[in-house]
Amino acid sequence: MKNNKFINKIICSDTLKLLPQIESDSIDVVLTDPPYFLDKLDNNWDYEAVSNQNNQYAIKSLPAGMKFDREQGKKFYAWYLKISEEIFRILKPGGFFFSFSSPRLYHRMASAIDDAGFEIRDAFMWLYTQNQAKAMGVDHFIKKMSIDEKAKEKIKEKLNGWKTPQIKSCFEPIAMAQKPTDQTYLNNMLKHEVGMLNTNVRIGDNMYPANVFTVDNINRLIDKTFLLPKPTKKEKGEYNDHKTVKPLAVCEYLIKLSVFAKNAVVLDPFIGSGTTAVAAKKLGKNYIGIDANKNYVEISERRLKELDETPDLFRNVASIKEPKTKSLQAQLQIV
Ligand SMILES: C[S@@+](CC[C@H](N)C(=O)[O-])C[C@H]1O[C@@H](n2cnc3c(N)ncnc32)[C@H](O)[C@@H]1O
Repeated sequence: MKNNKFINKIICSDTLKLLPQIESDSIDVVLTDPPYFLDKLDNNWDYEAVSNQNNQYAIKSLPAGMKFDREQGKKFYAWYLKISEEIFRILKPGGFFFSFSSPRLYHRMASAIDDAGFEIRDAFMWLYTQNQAKAMGVDHFIKKMSIDEKAKEKIKEKLNGWKTPQIKSCFEPIAMAQKPTDQTYLNNMLKHEVGMLNTNVRIGDNMYPANVFTVDNINRLIDKTFLLPKPTKKEKGEYNDHKTVKPLAVCEYLIKLSVFAKNAVVLDPFIGSGTTAVAAKKLGKNYIGIDANKNYVEISERRLKELDETPDLFRNVASIKEPKTKSLQAQLQIV
């Protein structure tokens, strides 16, 4: 089988070069957090370079680096369309594609996934309470205006508390798309062992799975309904310097909801520090991880090795409960 050399491996490559080598209709679920390339906050983001550039697209009064470039969203769409088309090809019929995004970029990402042939089934919302507010005051610019001091003070007073349009961001949208099924859901499940959601999974205090989750304690009702286990420093690995490590429990939740087959393969084309692979492995599933950055590939491999050697490091995140009813897997094996 063409995929054998990739199974349970983290591969260092540009995803667009690697995906064409993966067999068609062979992957159960794709779960990923792609790079966004917005505001130049990609891997190549460099403060000096951004500050020194001629900011023709920058919104006046925004500091360099808060560039608003219409072309960025369009370029992201074109690039993600190519990625999504490959993901569409390699997923089994009925296979799910979970893709993390940002509130500003979601529309471009979801459109690329949709245009690649997927059916957008839903969007998840990862809710959090802590984030840095990025809005800036304009006093600095008022100070530079060629008007007298009294007039400046008047404007400052008038605009007191009014800032540039960056609201404190407290949620992350995640698209849930599906490759069209092979006839009915039942037929698809029997034939390809993918395409339905496991409603036995529990979130919060033994609650039915929802499209909202959080890993922060917020208040009694929200925690009861949507809380997943908080990430620990240990699960991330103290050596892990990746900037956007996802909580293991989040990846576990989405994998548990969507992966059915015993020998299922979960693929993450932008694996970063390996969270999707660690979650899949922890749940006894196969994985394929891809990242263009060698350092992150090594971090992923180290985390996966730690899971073998010290599974306790990851234990406290496995608290999504499943009731002891006969699983659909068991039922299908009887059919
Ligand atoms: C947002 S991070 C993923 C973080 C990951 N979810 C985790 O928990 O660590 C996106 C990753 O995509 C990788 N990347 C960016 N462009 C890539 C490309 N063309 N091919 C493969 N990987 C790429 C980056 O190196 C980065 O690690």
